[in-house]
Amino acid sequence: MPVLNWIGREKVLDFDAKVPLKSLVEKKDLSVNPHMMPENIIAKGDNLEVLKALTPFYRGKVKCIYIDPPYNTGNENWAYNDNVNSPEMKAWLGKVVGKEDLCRHDKWLCMMYPRLKLMKELLRNDGFIFISIDNNEIHHLRSLMDEIWGRSNFVNCLIVKRASKNINNQFKNLKSLNQGFEFILVYKKSKEAYWVHPYAKSDGKRKRGYWTSFWSTADRPTMRYELLGFQPQTGQWKWSREKALAAVKNYQEYEEKYKEKYPELKDFWEATGKVKKFIRRKGQNIPQYWVEPSEKRLLDTDWTDLYVNDNKIKKYFDTPKSLKLIKRIIKASTQNDDIILDCFAGSGTTGQAVLEINEEIKESRRKFLLIEINNYAENIIQERLKTKIETGGEKLAKEGFKFMELGEVISKE
Ligand SMILES: C[S@@+](CC[C@H](N)C(=O)[O-])C[C@H]1O[C@@H](n2cnc3c(N)ncnc32)[C@H](O)[C@@H]1O
Repeated sequence: MPVLNWIGREKVLDFDAKVPLKSLVEKKDLSVNPHMMPENIIAKGDNLEVLKALTPFYRGKVKCIYIDPPYNTGNENWAYNDNVNSPEMKAWLGKVVGKEDLCRHDKWLCMMYPRLKLMKELLRNDGFIFISIDNNEIHHLRSLMDEIWGRSNFVNCLIVKRASKNINNQFKNLKSLNQGFEFILVYKKSKEAYWVHPYAKSDGKRKRGYWTSFWSTADRPTMRYELLGFQPQTGQWKWSREKALAAVKNYQEYEEKYKEKYPELKDFWEATGKVKKFIRRKGQNIPQYWVEPSEKRLLDTDWTDLYVNDNKIKKYFDTPKSLKLIKRIIKASTQNDDIILDCFAGSGTTGQAVLEINEEIKESRRKFLLIEINNYAENIIQERLKTKIETGGEKLAKEGFKFMELGEVISKE
């Protein structure tokens, strides 16, 4: 399999094994109800060291990892320092790679490689990792993931909507179009992984039921029978003749006898036990069948019904990820007692998403492990989750977390 090369690669290939194992020490003054939920952890520190420190306790135990690493846009002024040029990262790269001539992509790859290896160790065999990313590094990230996690463990590349920018309207000679979406790469740990609940709430049309063509391009001659005066020459009808004729009869019966009582077909369908199928022909058009209402729709990779960022929670940060997005990821990939890890935690959106899911779903006792290198850990994440717990309802009163920091070196590999 082809592998990606970059300056510094050889220094980081086995670096995960050389990271010293440190203890994690609780900062009691920053913990909240730790006796209630000691499994929830906010850990401050470089994720490389914290992931290593978690390994003895969490190897193979995490069901879902969501990360939102720096996108490496080259923007130095952004709150999250998006260019792998924070003082901590510079120091780390200087120590480990030691070369002067790294470009920002080399640095990013050196930073990600050992961390992705450690994350894989923590994941359960049936777990998924979700990685938010944009065009700056997605091509590199796919190569890294294929190498470290395995090409056969690639699951999906989701797209999520970015806010539109009207600013481009002012340019006469536009050089490139505004990027309308960004990506979430999904990989699994092994072939044991499966989506737990890959559904979203359905939108208006799906919720009410709708009519659509009963003809399909598949090509079985035995399924080309005459229906409501229409005989297809190519393609086929979607159901067998028997089922289709019963559906025609159902609709005729509805029109003749029940339409006055139930002006909406949906109401008739519900009143008759949600089992009846319907087929109609309108004018000279091809016969249509009625797609019955559903509260949920099966997800595909187009997640552009959701925005990447959420302005409502902007008070925490410039570009926190949207809670709806993270909640969808967690609900789709985890069950009630599962552990969710976010080791580029930023403002702690993943922690809030876990708490909100626990609040919404009676049986849910999902847990979070959040890692953040910056003092956002105590200034933003701790404060945000503490407020959420203290101002939430009865269920959230049973939540809590431990705030941890890195301690002494226990052993050097
Ligand atoms: C893009 S932000 C994540 C935003 C987050 N998803 C949210 O909704 O608020 C990336 C975060 O990763 C943190 N970070 C970068 N390198 C890190 C490292 N080596 N260890 C831990 N955190 C790191 C940055 O400080 C920043 O807060």
